[in-house]
Amino acid sequence: PVLILLGPPGAGKGTQARMLEEKFGLVQLSTGDLLRAAVAAGTEAGQRAKAVMEAGELVSDDIVIAILRDRLAEADCAKGVILDGFPRTTVQAEALDGLLAESGQKINAAVSLEVDDAAMVTRISGRYTCGSCGEGYHDSFKQPAKPGTCDKCGGTEFKRRADDNAETVAARLEAYHAQTAPLIDYYAAQHALIGIDAMGEIDDIAGKLAAIVKTAT
Ligand code: AP5
Ligand code: ZN
Repeated sequence: PVLILLGPPGAGKGTQARMLEEKFGLVQLSTGDLLRAAVAAGTEAGQRAKAVMEAGELVSDDIVIAILRDRLAEADCAKGVILDGFPRTTVQAEALDGLLAESGQKINAAVSLEVDDAAMVTRISGRYTCGSCGEGYHDSFKQPAKPGTCDKCGGTEFKRRADDNAETVAARLEAYHAQTAPLIDYYAAQHALIGIDAMGEIDDIAGKLAAIVKTAT
């Protein structure tokens, strides 16, 4: 199936997409991760995206669509795809519909993770990831079992994102409400929208998503 995770920064899109990848073999495609990799590699797209991401604004549709199109073409999507952080504008949503139609596919479900803005600031400001495998953690909500050592790979280096500061988070939330939230109506009109309460425990939300994947296959 092709699933979309919609939701503001900090809603848990990345956390849940990684869990679905492990559980069902779906391929996680995160435009945020792809853009951060482009910035780190210093590609032309990365150079154009860097300042925009640091300001918490959306990278231009042409850059993001091109990156997503390339990654979609090379990924082994036989078991399905989970899109995390894409689409984020109506232009991107229309482009995605077109790309999928080329291979006779369509979106099975667009899941909107429903959360409170205030809680998102806490989630994002406590976030860090393993420098080796990318596993996500949180100062209060998700610590490694052995302090300082990644549960997944045993790595001991952790990092925090450049855009995870209070000022940029406010801009990211604003961009979400102005440019991305309209996609809720877009997918409701396609009868693909499923809203879930994403304020609970990580594992409970994962259970709801697993049920959605099972009915979509
Ligand atoms: P992107 O990387 O997509 O960031 P985002 O949307 O701001 O989302 P986040 O990664 O911050 O949050 P998340 O929902 O994945 O939450 P997570 O699971 O980590 O985009 C970054 C930038 O790239 C954008 O600002 C833009 O500039 C650009 N960009 C990307 N895609 C684009 C596009 N399509 N078009 C244009 N520009 C684009 O969880 C957060 C924390 O909370 C973690 O620490 C986690 O452990 C914890 N947590 C998760 N779930 C729970 C829970 N249920 N309870 C308690 N804690 C939880
Ligand atoms: Zn790790």
